Amino acid sequence: MQNHVCSRRIALKVLAAGGAAGTLASACSGPAGAAPAPVGVVQAGLVSSYPVGSLEPVGNLALAVGRDAKGLYAMTLTCTHEGCNMAVEGNVSASGIVCSCHGSQFDANGGVTRGPAQETLTHFAVTVDASGTITVHGDQTVAASARTPVA
Ligand code: FES
Repeated sequence: MQNHVCSRRIALKVLAAGGAAGTLASACSGPAGAAPAPVGVVQAGLVSSYPVGSLEPVGNLALAVGRDAKGLYAMTLTCTHEGCNMAVEGNVSASGIVCSCHGSQFDANGGVTRGPAQETLTHFAVTVDASGTITVHGDQTVAASARTPVA
């Protein structure tokens, strides 16, 4: 296993995406059991953009929004191994999340399916307004089973 090293490419991607210094630090540092990169309160588009069974990254933020039969959910894309932002260094799809840094894999609800990561991905609160716009509250963690029902 190689240690995670922040590449210039990653740093440029984070900065190009409007990433704050804290985001860059999170994308480039690597403490074991890494905490989610702070994303704050994020507008994540319309409910209609997320069909049942979907999981999508929100731009280059360390954040994904998914929808299953029970509703919407959001979770960090900060890999719990050493903190890579899997929106930038990885792959996110309805079948799960892969971290390119050292090969960890997570299911579509953030559960670890392959190490070296050992911790599940942190989930965040989701609200939907009358127009169907999704807001992720990155400052409010919720249980992995939490869902926001949508009509
Ligand atoms: S940071 Fe090591 S597997 Fe993701």
